[in-house]
Amino acid sequence: MSIIVTGGAGYIGAHVVRLLQERGEDVVVVDDLSTGRADRVGDATVVELDVAAGDAQERLERVMRERGVTGVVHFAARKQVGESVQRPAWYYQQNVTGLANVVAAMEAVGADRLIFSSSAAVYGMPDVELVTEDTPPRPINPYGETKLVGEWLIADAQRAWGLRAASLRYFNVAGAGWPELGDPAILNLVPMVLDRLARGERPTIFGDDYPTPDGTCVRDYIHVLDLAHAHLAALDHLDRDERPASVFNVGTGQGASVREVIEEIGRVSGLDVTADVAERRAGDPPRLVASADRIAEVLGWRAANGLPEIIASAWEAWQAGPRRIG
Ligand code: UFG
Repeated sequence: MSIIVTGGAGYIGAHVVRLLQERGEDVVVVDDLSTGRADRVGDATVVELDVAAGDAQERLERVMRERGVTGVVHFAARKQVGESVQRPAWYYQQNVTGLANVVAAMEAVGADRLIFSSSAAVYGMPDVELVTEDTPPRPINPYGETKLVGEWLIADAQRAWGLRAASLRYFNVAGAGWPELGDPAILNLVPMVLDRLARGERPTIFGDDYPTPDGTCVRDYIHVLDLAHAHLAALDHLDRDERPASVFNVGTGQGASVREVIEEIGRVSGLDVTADVAERRAGDPPRLVASADRIAEVLGWRAANGLPEIIASAWEAWQAGPRRIG
């Protein structure tokens, strides 16, 4: 019996692969290696494959049959909001067609457990203190739309043929579970601040006139290792229940502002993190913080780490990489 982790060579995927290996599961990584790296997955078999390709369903079925696959953790997708606005059709091809190929292959071989990487981006700009899974999803960009459509497809497959699935709506993922598994991309706040510091530049704050306590945007930062553990909890849950609740926020219930994150980076690194304030970035909600009650109640999962652990681990991973500061 094996588990396929699509996108397993990526930032979050590699953490899940390692946790699955630690508990003795046989893992097959399916990854196009466009952003992932095969050296992140230990001794897992790597099948180089774009899940959105024309022959992907057939190739996935073959791997599933050969390896006796019973479940899939599906990360493989594009995740850049700005790029999704520029290239909507490509985002639908990659994220929606890719998922459809995975689900079709699962149906064909009778593999019926799926964990889907969804996103808080499905909520758009909710005007609430804590976002629950019942907050109406209103994505404001193609990236968020593709994740919501993915959830719908999964719900339809649950009804049609008994797919057992959980969609995990990630909030702001950061940190590293192991120093060599840090986020290799410079696309989010923590790596963007570290990148500026590595260049000897000041961090940038995109707007400090939001209706929040210090004027900067508030987010729910979740340690990537906690997030990875949530995937294992969800997989185990699918084993226990016939018709599980299928959508879960993965966050901490605690918000941190951009300024607080930057200050924590200064505290951990000892660097001067005096920031420049720039214009607001289009599409940023002032506040996006999860209610993490459902996942605690149903899966028994809670984040073990807070902002200090997230930033300390991100710093350690950065310093273990090629662009060490100081
Ligand atoms: N920010 C800065 N300076 C920077 C980088 C970011 O001020 O150098 C701010 C952003 O404007 C935002 C906050 O830091 O207010 C967090 O920004 P990120 O880009 O790290 O994260 P987002 O909340 O914008 O995006 C995340 C995920 C997306 C997802 C989105 C909505 O990265 O994939 O949440 O759920 F779509």
